[in-house]
Amino acid sequence: MKDNSKTFYISTPIYYPSDNLHIGHTYCTVMADAMARFTRLQGFEVMFLTGTDEHGQKIQKKADAKGVTPQEYVDNVVAGIQKLWATMEISYDDFIRTTQPRHKKRVQEIFKRIYEKGDIYKSEYEGWYCTDCEAFWTDTQCPDGICPDCGRPIGRAKEEAYFFRLSKYADRLKELFTTTDFLQPQTRVNEMLAFIDQGLEDLCISRSSFDWGIQVPIDEKHVIYVWLDALSNYITALGYPELPGESSEKYEKYWPVNYHLVGKEIVRFHSIIWPAMLMSMEEPLPQHVLGHGWLLIDGGKMSKSKGNVVDPVMLIERYGVDALKYFLLREYTFGQDGQFTNEVMLNRMNYDLANDLGNLVSRTTSMIEKYCGGIVPGPGKEEGPDAELKAMAVECYKKVEEAMDKFQFHIALEEIWTVIRRTNKYIDETSPWVLAKDPANAKRLDTVMHNLADSLRVVSVLIYPFMHTTSSKIREQLGLGEEAPVWNEVTFFDMMNGQVAHKGEAIFPRMDVKKELEELEAIRAAAVAAANPAPEKEEPEEVYEPIKPLIEFDDFDKVDLRAGTIVKAERHPKADKLLVFQVDLGFETRQIISGVAGSYSPEECVGKHVIAVVNLKPRMLRGLESNGMLCFACDDAEGKFTFAGAEAKNGLVIG
Ligand code: ME8
Ligand code: MG
Repeated sequence: MKDNSKTFYISTPIYYPSDNLHIGHTYCTVMADAMARFTRLQGFEVMFLTGTDEHGQKIQKKADAKGVTPQEYVDNVVAGIQKLWATMEISYDDFIRTTQPRHKKRVQEIFKRIYEKGDIYKSEYEGWYCTDCEAFWTDTQCPDGICPDCGRPIGRAKEEAYFFRLSKYADRLKELFTTTDFLQPQTRVNEMLAFIDQGLEDLCISRSSFDWGIQVPIDEKHVIYVWLDALSNYITALGYPELPGESSEKYEKYWPVNYHLVGKEIVRFHSIIWPAMLMSMEEPLPQHVLGHGWLLIDGGKMSKSKGNVVDPVMLIERYGVDALKYFLLREYTFGQDGQFTNEVMLNRMNYDLANDLGNLVSRTTSMIEKYCGGIVPGPGKEEGPDAELKAMAVECYKKVEEAMDKFQFHIALEEIWTVIRRTNKYIDETSPWVLAKDPANAKRLDTVMHNLADSLRVVSVLIYPFMHTTSSKIREQLGLGEEAPVWNEVTFFDMMNGQVAHKGEAIFPRMDVKKELEELEAIRAAAVAAANPAPEKEEPEEVYEPIKPLIEFDDFDKVDLRAGTIVKAERHPKADKLLVFQVDLGFETRQIISGVAGSYSPEECVGKHVIAVVNLKPRMLRGLESNGMLCFACDDAEGKFTFAGAEAKNGLVIG
């Protein structure tokens, strides 16, 4: 998985500080942290990057709603995010915020480079925009105004914009997916290939209808599209592009990244837009993009408005950082979605942590105190189950390395727990309390105590990347001192001899699952109740049609508008959308056809007062003549039409 240069660069997505983070974000960051710690332990120089994605329309709207500036809004949320990561001892090497000057000036530089390459041009954007995903969609991708990613109703955008020649890179992207293991897991590759095969269109990369973003360096009316801004963080944090007087040494050292770890919903941005940007800049591509699955609640995504968002801070306060990390890494399979339930979480914590590991630690240390005066004995003659125990302990690291190579945290931990359970079984098999009864067994008892301590020592190293605090507690109780372990220790046995061990506090107290479940349920019910009276409205964006170019007075005067009344309405026999009206215009009754069947039934229309254009050339519509046009208030995005016209004598001129 790693290259030979002994450096390792891993990133998480930079999260939107639009709200406090929940257990889903925590899950991704915990995986990245475990991988960073594991790799450091193996002697790599690691760059672990995380941060926050602070621009865009979504943040601006949140700030507006709260009556604060966007910067004030994000400063407040980001402080909470950084506090969460500090509590969880997330070992990131850098935290980038897209509002930092070091980032902003480099993004502008990146824009210029792509522009100078000839890959950016100005045009007009017309299509759909999902503010929640900050994603553009075409009519084909979004036929019904529902975001294909998040399923929310979305609005249309129509504005002057800059475009990136993404289409130019379609072939190279396909090649990247088909000839390398750039993107994992494989199911995502197939999705991306299908996406490219739909026809890769050029990408809109600027917005001019709001201003919370990095200015386009060549046009102050525009801000850079938030994804172009956000994706760049992975290199701006390393000092790319090099600016006068500032070093890009980290870029030389760490780029290309080993792994971009991202949720499956943003794989598309990372595996299509991001490599294409790098291709345009002629920079090396990421080695891997890894798409992980979602944590689901009741089968669906967590959502603030439903009040079912799981708060990591609350879980940490109740169960501790290591228990939460262990659960997240052990329970879920990388790349797949997983259900989050309190019951599964509590049982994992109770069985694996309190029972298996907690018991092993307390039994081992208390027996060493009791039978050996607290001093770990040296090794003795091997007999009975000794060989099997030792082999299992010293071979486990290979299985852990193999699993970690594939980001299979759950398998790595399962392998470690196999050793833990084997060691607990060893206690039962050797029955030290029986040995202790007969002084003739003193040597054997020493050997058993030694083997237990040594096996637990191996375990303490193996769990270090996943739960270093617990590892340190165990090592402290074994008399191994405060220094962090080295990975190499896991490859041999018989290192324990003469350490002063002592039984400390239980590392994971046993919980009353039923009681905990009730309390968690009460917390959740309160959150749902708090969310329900005022559910967050997810209104689509208001986008008004731009005003058409000015016309002369004479132009308007050419249009003959009259008041009229609909006296008869029928469905068009050959077209679902059309209604065929007979309109009384005072001087005559004539047939006019309108495409409003989606908004009105024929019965609703009879008697409606209308404004009609009466000097429009007649037109055949699916075999029936339409003689003029009726005016409606047209909401094209929603496909909704409303009659426009008040009670006026039929035939009167409107002007
Ligand atoms: O998309 N289960 O930020 P974001 C698992 N700013 N992981 C989850 C999750 C869940 N239910 N919910 C969120 C953005 N995540 C952009 C990223 S990167 C250049 C810009 C995790 O705040 C998962 O990793 O919406 C997902 O991709 C990420 O949070 C999205 O965070
Ligand atoms: Mg998101």
